[in-house]
Amino acid sequence: MNKYLVIGNPIEHSLSPKLQNWWLKENNIDATYDKIKLEIHEIKNFIQGIKEQKIAGCNVTVPFKKTVIPFLDKLSPEAEQTQSVNTISYDNGDLVGHNTDIAGFDTAIKKLDFSIKGKKVLILGAGGVVPSIIFALKNMHVQEIIISNRTKEKAENLRVLFKDLKILEWGNLTDFHMVINATSLGLNNETIDLDFSSSGHDKLFYDVIYNPQETRFLKMGKQLGYRTENGKTMFIYQALEAFKLWHRIEPEVNKDTFKLLDND
Ligand code: ATR
Repeated sequence: MNKYLVIGNPIEHSLSPKLQNWWLKENNIDATYDKIKLEIHEIKNFIQGIKEQKIAGCNVTVPFKKTVIPFLDKLSPEAEQTQSVNTISYDNGDLVGHNTDIAGFDTAIKKLDFSIKGKKVLILGAGGVVPSIIFALKNMHVQEIIISNRTKEKAENLRVLFKDLKILEWGNLTDFHMVINATSLGLNNETIDLDFSSSGHDKLFYDVIYNPQETRFLKMGKQLGYRTENGKTMFIYQALEAFKLWHRIEPEVNKDTFKLLDND
């Protein structure tokens, strides 16, 4: 039986096994999908295991999306340009690193019917998923991307990949049409200490977090009368793209898919 895994650290809260196993069952595929917490020194051996076909493929989450790269044979153009891999497949003897976070974010925004072209986007955070979000936003032809991160150096490092990023000191605000919380603030009910009350009209507040479904950041956006969206659609569609790569089947996304992830 083919075995798939998601690797990360921490990994307990990952909902990938729940979703992938649901789709495996729906599509009558005889395979399993599990989660495993790894330490950084274990990554190389783990990836060798994919090559030896002990594992058929895997998803990669924080903090290993870049760590895995030296051990792979090929990268998709998106993984190359973001230096971020969230899916590994084994194709004709080669281990290939893919980035399906980009497609996940892209689909999530397109489903919102919020016109993003020519708009200003403020991203809070500079962690693992941010290069993928920037890549997707650039493809959508936004006017400007501004990054604000507690550790400024990490925001500056993103300029190596994306030259025209603007950087904003953490704790400050600027004019924007869409603000994205890509920090981990909110996972445990934390607030983001920024005053958005004079941000103007017609804004989109987007949180990459989907569990809890409504972070305090999104609650605040809603109270101020803005549109809000959590990261669940992005999560589902990055998983769908990975499923397609491994099984060559497009799984169905419907109300039950969203409900499945609500239960946690
Ligand atoms: P990683 O940084 O390992 O990729 P991540 O979960 O993808 O992990 O990213 C965590 C993000 O949340 C980072 O941008 C982090 O800011 P730092 O780069 O300064 O660490 C941000 N973050 C976490 N706790 C925070 C806090 N208390 N205040 C502000 N930002 C915080």
